[in-house]
Amino acid sequence: MATVRKAVIPAAGLGTRFLPATKAVAKEMLPIVNKPSIQLIVEEAAASGIEQVIIVTGRGKTEIVDHFDAHPQLEESLRRAGKEALLREVMRPSQLVKLATVRQQRPLGLGHAILCARSLIGDEPFAVFLPDDLVDSERPCARQLIDVYERTGTSVVALMNVPREETSSYGIAAGTVDPMDGRTVRINAIVEKPAVDDAPSTMAVVGRYVLDPAVFDYLTRTNPGRGDEIQLTDALAAMMVDRGLHGYLFEGDRFDAGDVTGYLLANLNWARRTPRIWSAIVRYVEEHSGKVPKRDKR
Ligand code: G1P
Repeated sequence: MATVRKAVIPAAGLGTRFLPATKAVAKEMLPIVNKPSIQLIVEEAAASGIEQVIIVTGRGKTEIVDHFDAHPQLEESLRRAGKEALLREVMRPSQLVKLATVRQQRPLGLGHAILCARSLIGDEPFAVFLPDDLVDSERPCARQLIDVYERTGTSVVALMNVPREETSSYGIAAGTVDPMDGRTVRINAIVEKPAVDDAPSTMAVVGRYVLDPAVFDYLTRTNPGRGDEIQLTDALAAMMVDRGLHGYLFEGDRFDAGDVTGYLLANLNWARRTPRIWSAIVRYVEEHSGKVPKRDKR
């Protein structure tokens, strides 16, 4: 069984759900507390054993590459000022993984974005991280999928149950759940953003995948689907018939950081790790929900 060493992060999207913030700033650079959200993704990749990350970028995304590069001038000034803890934080992004980028010249869909990374992936299994989906879990979400890949030898997608009325916003998979762990799913149908009445289940695909390199052949044969875009889900549906496909109802909390509400909730979630920030937030909420009286600042 080949080791999963590489990952693709498609980051060429325009971030329209976040305008006007994303007019001149890549949405992946919007911070979760004090880190760009894409850093959380690359940290998850590194913690899952990924050694090389390929970011699929587009116009206006160069700051992402800068963030994962070294910054000798800044590092030197922090060193001279004796700010060792901050220096470590600044150097960390450049030390997580080996990084490569490739441009997607036209917005032809997620499937097309993955295809852009083909020559850099070659003939080995790889992970895909959609940067809008942030997952907070004890065992990194991608690691959970890689373990399933190593067990089953098929491609694997992350799954989570959603309310039925939300099924039209996701890829939806159906299949049989392994009674042994209650999490591994042998998928027998997968469809991109079905109408609510047509959804074959309520198991939604979340943006983590481990893919057999054969997916590239299926992607080249995939016609534009939903939204007139080349959909990864459609290629997976075709590959499932020939080679099987598993899902994994992962352990952890997922936040849709591409949506304003989900992004703010993600900030609250990660803010809990810093007691000083968290106690200020709790105090704010208590005051504004009338739980405690507002402090008199006269
Ligand atoms: C993409 C996928 C979809 C998946 C979703 C998860 O859709 O195409 O199958 O359920 O990510 O976030 P998008 O949200 O990019 O339209």
